[in-house]
Formats: sequence, C-alpha cells, structure tokens
Amino acid sequence: MEKLGEGGMGEVWLVYAPSRAAQFAAKKLHPHLLRDKDLKRFNREINNLLLSLQHQNIVRIIDVSEDPNLPGYMME
Ligand SMILES: Nc1ncnc2c1ncn2[C@@H]1O[C@H](COP(=O)(O)OP(=O)(O)OP(=O)(O)O)[C@@H](O)[C@H]1O
Ligand SMILES: [Mg+2]
Repeated sequence: MEKLGEGGMGEVWLVYAPSRAAQFAAKKLHPHLLRDKDLKRFNREINNLLLSLQHQNIVRIIDVSEDPNLPGYMME
C-alpha cells in the first residue's frame, strides 16, 4: 500500500493480507542482492527472528516468501 522505509538490504512496504484481514510490514530483498552471500545473510536474519529472538520488543515474522526470485518476509 505504501513504502515504509528502505535500508541496505531491502525495501519495507505496508501491505494488506486478505487471508488474515490485517496489515503487516513486508520486507523485500533488493534485487541486486540476489546472490549467495547476501541471500545467506537475509535467511540468517529470518531464522534469527523466527527462532532465536523472541521478545515483546522484537517484531514477529508472520510469513516468509517461498519464491526464490522474490526473497522476503512479512512481519508485524
Ligand atoms: N516492521 C516494520 N514496521 C514498520 N516499518 C518498518 C518495519 N521494518 C522496517 N521498517 C522500515 O523500513 C526501514 C528499513 O528496514 P530495515 O532496517 O529492516 O532494512 P535493512 O535493509 O535491513 O536496513 P539496514 O541496512 O539498516 O540493516 C526501517 O528503517 C523502517 O523505517
Ligand atoms: Mg538490516
């Protein structure tokens, strides 16, 4: 719906997920980072958020893209 921000790794967009009837923030890896090294770092971020870092002050991941050409995840 609108771009919330951008960093070195990707863009973050406000999205509406009809299946959950709610809004989330979706982070999409910059296309020029579709390389092994950067993908590994991005996937590490996802795994850390999903598994290792659970705290009320850390965003929760809601869903992860399964499209290898469009790495990203949806979060609170
Ligand atoms: N869950 C969120 N809700 C709202 N805005 C967000 C959220 N996550 C990120 N943003 C916005 O998007 C920007 C970029 O996000 P983020 O820092 O995760 O990207 P990055 O590419 O990893 O940046 P960096 O290179 O600094 O690590 C943030 O500074 C913030 O403005
Ligand atoms: Mg970052």
